[in-house]
Amino acid sequence: MSTAQTVPIYSDNYRFLREHIYSQAGIVFEDDKQYLFETRLSPIVRQLGLGSINDLCSLLKAGRETEVHRRVVEAMTTNETYFFRDPSQYDSIRSALLPRLREERRDTRRMRFWSAAASTGQEAYSLAMVLLEEGFGNWNLQILGTDFASKVVDRARSGKYQQIEVNRGLPASLLVKYFRRAGMEWQLSEEVRRLAQFETIDLRKSMRALGPFDLVFCRNVMIYFDSQTKDQILQELHSTLFRGGWLLLGGAETAIGVDRWFERQTIGAATVYVAK
Ligand SMILES: C[S@@+](CC[C@H](N)C(=O)[O-])C[C@H]1O[C@@H](n2cnc3c(N)ncnc32)[C@H](O)[C@@H]1O
Repeated sequence: MSTAQTVPIYSDNYRFLREHIYSQAGIVFEDDKQYLFETRLSPIVRQLGLGSINDLCSLLKAGRETEVHRRVVEAMTTNETYFFRDPSQYDSIRSALLPRLREERRDTRRMRFWSAAASTGQEAYSLAMVLLEEGFGNWNLQILGTDFASKVVDRARSGKYQQIEVNRGLPASLLVKYFRRAGMEWQLSEEVRRLAQFETIDLRKSMRALGPFDLVFCRNVMIYFDSQTKDQILQELHSTLFRGGWLLLGGAETAIGVDRWFERQTIGAATVYVAK
């Protein structure tokens, strides 16, 4: 009997799937990534009681199952993240951005931050812990976390993490201070959670209305887009920042075209993009 594992994806269906994911999320897959589709879509094929990914494509082409469309696109997103990823960027926030804002905003005591492509929330919550540790607990702080995939946004909102997740990047002192055990998981304290709100947002949509922000993280997501999409997103991100506000990209990402809207600065070991 054929199973989802044994039936290869027909080439016209592979083309259909790539085009579908590109139109729904802007994510580009190269010609040779069939194995990724097989690994990530097989659980959906099994749950729906279908014989293969080709059957799933027939269902998608019929166009009625909007919930299945959403699950397929979300399954194809890469949600890898962890606490204090790229530590040098948090160092630059502590050493340069926060001292400046502490001075500039001493009257309003208000700061706004955005973790675009927040995944399961570790980036937003790492920043929240930095703000508390730096003594901004009685300021008016807002951290917006957004992601395309509702499954990760729901997890971010819950503020619950597994042992393996708190073992990645989170200093033990912060685990003890801001988390408590909840069965097999760790629950982030209300003090940290109240600083961050999470929404489902597609980065390809207009984002001007979300700002203005003092800092935007847009890390490890542009790598999945083509240059036209990247360019459009960079321009939109710029429109959400205060002049002088910071954009932080992933450690290994180089943003071609970024110089039109941002000035590149090196702070310690981090590269920050300052809005012109
Ligand atoms: C690899 S994670 C990066 C998480 C975090 N920024 C970090 O660097 O650790 C990439 C995230 O981008 C999200 N994503 C992909 N396409 C998107 C889009 N068009 N709009 C918004 N988010 C998107 C995915 O759902 C995924 O959670």
